[in-house]
Amino acid sequence: MAATSADTNDTLQARRVAAIPRGLASSLAVFADHAENAALWDVEGRRYIDFASGIAVLNTGHLHPDVKAAVAAQLERFTHSCFQVTPYASYIELAERLNALAPGATPKKTIFLSTGAEAVENAVKIARAHTRRNGVIAFSGGFHGRTIACMSLTGKVLPYKAGFGAMMPEVFHVPFPMAYPRCHARAFSGSAPDAVQGEHRSCACRGNHHRARARRRWVLHCTPGVLAPTARPLRSARHRPDHG
Ligand SMILES: Cc1ncc(COP(=O)(O)O)c(C=O)c1O
Repeated sequence: MAATSADTNDTLQARRVAAIPRGLASSLAVFADHAENAALWDVEGRRYIDFASGIAVLNTGHLHPDVKAAVAAQLERFTHSCFQVTPYASYIELAERLNALAPGATPKKTIFLSTGAEAVENAVKIARAHTRRNGVIAFSGGFHGRTIACMSLTGKVLPYKAGFGAMMPEVFHVPFPMAYPRCHARAFSGSAPDAVQGEHRSCACRGNHHRARARRRWVLHCTPGVLAPTARPLRSARHRPDHG
């Protein structure tokens, strides 16, 4: 049943609790009815400013006219073909545009995936296939998604990992290198030297010195990525001869 004028936030919350597992948590018990640009109205007609914007993925705001027109135009042509079965030009065109925007002089290629977790999983697969190495370094405090591999990469144990059993092996967490040591995120982060040392420690603690040679540094963009990492530890690892 879609939302009707009889629905309130309370009635929808009761239906949600009965129909949807509590493991899928929501930040608010406020149910969206419609939205425009940065404003969002709930089912009771209250207006909010939508600072959350789908966790910062709605840069255009709600119902941008160009986005609406592009969706409408696509739905006049075909709904879904699966690029792996029947490819289409707009996939290639978007990849070309992103490749042109990506920094650096090397040639670029792009793959589109359905979710953030799928993107992270495939980044790890691509890195492993290319380097023939297993290890992945991730930042403590980061969040990477809800699959087993992404949960393993996630740096926070509570609430994301507790109770879910064994994690993927060969994941090494280091402090996030950031330039704001007094900020509230300090508990999950460290200075640039901390991050370099943390990487050594994470191997040493596990008795995995030999693994250090078998690892490839992967900088996985994660939730604390809103704080730009300082470049030094990344460069330091890049230029160490045992990190191919
Ligand atoms: C930083 C970050 N990485 C990965 C994910 C996982 O994305 P998805 O929920 O689309 O799998 C999210 C969102 O939940 C995220 O915020």
